[in-house]
Amino acid sequence: MKERLEALRDEAIAKIKEANEIKAVQDVRVSYLGKKGPITEVLRGMGKLSAEERPIVGQIANEVREAITAELEKKLTALEEAEIERKLAEEQIDVSLPGRPVARGTRHPLTAVVEEVEDTFLGLGFTVAEGPEVETDYYNFEALNLPKDHPARDMQDSFYFTEELLLRTHTSPVQARTMEKFEGKGPVKVIVPGKVFRRDDDDATHSHQFMQIEGLYVDHNVRMSDLKGVLEAFAKSFFGVDRRIRLRPSFFPFTEPSVEVDVSCGMCGGKGCRVCKNTGWIEVLGAGMVHPRVLEMSGFDPKKYSGFAFGMGVERLAMLKYDIDDIRHFYTNDVRFLSQFKRV
Ligand code: PHE
Repeated sequence: MKERLEALRDEAIAKIKEANEIKAVQDVRVSYLGKKGPITEVLRGMGKLSAEERPIVGQIANEVREAITAELEKKLTALEEAEIERKLAEEQIDVSLPGRPVARGTRHPLTAVVEEVEDTFLGLGFTVAEGPEVETDYYNFEALNLPKDHPARDMQDSFYFTEELLLRTHTSPVQARTMEKFEGKGPVKVIVPGKVFRRDDDDATHSHQFMQIEGLYVDHNVRMSDLKGVLEAFAKSFFGVDRRIRLRPSFFPFTEPSVEVDVSCGMCGGKGCRVCKNTGWIEVLGAGMVHPRVLEMSGFDPKKYSGFAFGMGVERLAMLKYDIDDIRHFYTNDVRFLSQFKRV
């Protein structure tokens, strides 16, 4: 019996050594140590042995079992380790490989222009203010000296939600909102970038949604020459130091006097060309001295305070600066267009 057990042990160990997969090792365990295996069978026959022989054979059987189990464990550990090694080798990362470049987006040209204008005016002591895009009739018109029956309301066809609520047609309502916040005490010195909306049919120069930047400066003794100086500084900073500006009389209900501001043509230097329609000048914004009624309605005493205001179209600024021929480019998001503004 002893020989039989030892032979089984050697046989099992040989098979374990041969096995090179975890599954094969487990098969050996089942076939040699399992309930139906030869060792169990030998042990079952122990009943026939004498009382002296029984413990001896029992001990040998245990030793054989332990030897096989030890070998099984050893082989399983070795195979598992090999498996881990294999996976590690397979999943190895070459940290010296160059990285794959991640495509980065660019700043939208309108954002770039707004930020540039903001920077310029921050340098002149202005701060940035904002107001709602959904505006009340009061702030969009009434507080700007445009009463309900005012014919100038026709200048701006609007998107109304109700009789009292609309999408703002300009950033000027933020003039009134800001002055109210200051409760009659200056100085007020803000610029206001934002989206505005008008019922225009879209074409190369019109868009039902576009952006404006409003400016407002209210203080003691603010004069037209202050307006001119600030706008000239802006024009030179934004378009180039060689540019000049001129003021032409105009009309807005909320400013008196009102002006249109032209900048000298950058294409011909003011001599006259296709871009400036032979005038040498390009219109860039509307401005004026804040109307006394507007100051008064927003809580400022027009006897003590005066101010100037201006409003410019961001798309127009961008089109002039970057020679863009169609306003729709800003809103159709063609990556070939947008990606040109990497360094702006
Ligand atoms: N709100 C005017 C417009 O949209 C522009 C403007 C602003 C004119 C401030 C004068 C003063 O056309």
